[in-house]
Amino acid sequence: MDARGRFLGAVFACVLLAGMLPGLQAIAGGGLEKSEPAAENEHAQLVRRGAEVYQRCSACHRLGANAQNRIGPQLNDLLGRKAGSIEGARYSPAMKQAGADGLVWSAETIDAFVADPKGYLKGTTMGLRGVEDAGDRKALVAYLSSFSTGPSNIPETTVPAPPPVDAGVPSEILALKGDPEYGEYLSGECVTCHQPSGADKGIPSIIGWPHEDFVIAMHAYKNKKRPHPVMRMIAGRLSPEEIAALAAYFNKRDR
Ligand code: HEC
Ligand code: HEC
Repeated sequence: MDARGRFLGAVFACVLLAGMLPGLQAIAGGGLEKSEPAAENEHAQLVRRGAEVYQRCSACHRLGANAQNRIGPQLNDLLGRKAGSIEGARYSPAMKQAGADGLVWSAETIDAFVADPKGYLKGTTMGLRGVEDAGDRKALVAYLSSFSTGPSNIPETTVPAPPPVDAGVPSEILALKGDPEYGEYLSGECVTCHQPSGADKGIPSIIGWPHEDFVIAMHAYKNKKRPHPVMRMIAGRLSPEEIAALAAYFNKRDR
């Protein structure tokens, strides 16, 4: 194949991937710069946008080398993976059953699940309200595909590194040991919204999170790296010690 042929091949591959879901135009209209970039750049842009959307997942999921299960299972090699199949991950009976019934993660099933987790899979414990924008979801799938070795992966894609785990929270803050009793005292305000049962009506469950993830999430609101205005206000009032205490309390709390 000559250079031109290879270029067209790459363009074709990108168009194929982009065409996996309807609505490429929706994406173009949904925020990507319309500077008529080559199709390769368009795919790279899509992946980059996906990395941004993935920030919403990174509180609970890990990607990339040595990714561990956290609140949710690690998401490497997700495309083509049977649902509920990662050893050592904490799954709901619903997710296990869906896998046994033949649910396999693909561009389409990830899209549908992430759009409305509880609507798609009744009984799932995934505390995400859903990614509403179809363009965001398509970008997310492109980003997740770049961590899969399956046929959907396009090897020559430039993959941005997954967001750093520390999210800019200094290690001395992560190392603070919280007093769970003080955390319980402070938690009264939280459980007016975050259901004590761990069940969530559109508000994510915060029970049983690993200490570090909880602290990072709270500091992300405090430092205005996560957008939610109410949580920004609440976290903004809390000292690092108080956040550590809340993390200790909610980590130990039973549902
Ligand atoms: C608040 C924590 C949380 C957030 C945020 C979150 N997840 Fe999850 N995720 C989970 C949990 C817990 C499970 C296991 C659910 C179950 O077993 O019902 C899960 C399961 C999954 C699965 C199924 C994996 C498998 O092995 O079968 C996929 C796919 C997934 N999440 C994708 C995402 C994506 C994409 C995002 C971001 C848009 C996201 N999740 C955000 C907690 C979360
Ligand atoms: C007025 C209702 C409300 C109150 C009170 C509240 N939260 Fe939240 N909290 C939310 C909502 C809504 C979200 C989801 C925000 C988002 O999408 O980023 C959230 C998100 C969170 C998250 C991240 C969850 C995730 O899945 O990423 C943590 C951790 C958290 N809250 C902890 C707390 C703590 C600790 C308190 C008490 C000090 C508290 N919240 C009080 C409504 C509330």
